[in-house]
Amino acid sequence: MAKRVFSGMRPTGRLHLGHLAGALFNWVRFQDEYDCYYCIVDWHAMMSDYSDTSSITSNCREVLLDWLGVGLDPDRSTIFLQSHVPQHAELHLALSMIAPLGWLERCPTYKDQILNIQNKDLSTYAFLGYPVLMAADILLYKGELVPVGEDQSAHLEISREMARRFNNFFGEVFPEPQTILTKTPKVPGTDGRKMSKSYGNSINIADSPEEIWEKLRTMMTDPARERRKDPGDPDKCPVWDIHKVFNNDMEERDRLSEGCRTAGIGCIDCKKALYSHLMGILEPVQARRRSFESSEDDMIEVLRKGARKAERVAAVTISEVIRAIGFIPR
Ligand code: TRP
Repeated sequence: MAKRVFSGMRPTGRLHLGHLAGALFNWVRFQDEYDCYYCIVDWHAMMSDYSDTSSITSNCREVLLDWLGVGLDPDRSTIFLQSHVPQHAELHLALSMIAPLGWLERCPTYKDQILNIQNKDLSTYAFLGYPVLMAADILLYKGELVPVGEDQSAHLEISREMARRFNNFFGEVFPEPQTILTKTPKVPGTDGRKMSKSYGNSINIADSPEEIWEKLRTMMTDPARERRKDPGDPDKCPVWDIHKVFNNDMEERDRLSEGCRTAGIGCIDCKKALYSHLMGILEPVQARRRSFESSEDDMIEVLRKGARKAERVAAVTISEVIRAIGFIPR
């Protein structure tokens, strides 16, 4: 039996090149090898901003379209919304019964967010339990492998501890999920900082060719290369970092790098080359995305089918949980 992969993403809107290189390329590959569950975690989105839920629906839609566009395949993977499978809430409740407050209060991401995020109220009961819901997401499907970025390591550790604690009290129900740390290549945004929606510096998967060119054209380069005749240093250039991730033509890269160091080419030449590689990747993605976008019914069907499949697995786990705890079975 193929191992089971589970991963989730909060619906924050259109995804960018950082998501593509850091997660989605791998998620697509995992479909060849594993039994994959990919979940858009809309309850988690509410948790991080409960006072304004107005964009959750459209954000879920954008994430789903980006996923389908890059090649997550609803015939091979189970693609669904967290809120469509009610058992997430039920397992979250069961795990919350045995979740020690200390684990949650000590969680570094919790401490960090409570300190640093001022425009949202995060002092809620549920927000403290963010890692408990995340554990429920994974354990509900007995997920064995969880591909995530470094920032989620502490949460995954809590998921394993929750699995162990449940098994200790009630008998072996859950495997301990293993983190697959996807080595995240450096993808800077247009201002040279890490690409992130909140910095407003991202190049999105679904941006039009014109938008992408405009963002690249005005993107920061080696700050020391002020004029065309100044030689540049690719190692100090954020555009070059993006080349390294999305341009696999090594001969061309050698030529560009040499041209930059000798001022033989200008930044625009280098950006044009990058543009053509990016579009080579994004054009088919955007075409597939459009084919789903044009049919609301197809999108809804993907979500229904995903939720049905997910719920069949989830229901089995929940009945095991109920038996393990010792409630009267339904
Ligand atoms: N917390 C994750 C993030 O912010 C999203 C997430 C929720 C998740 N549940 C999950 C990731 C389960 C992996 C597995 O990126």
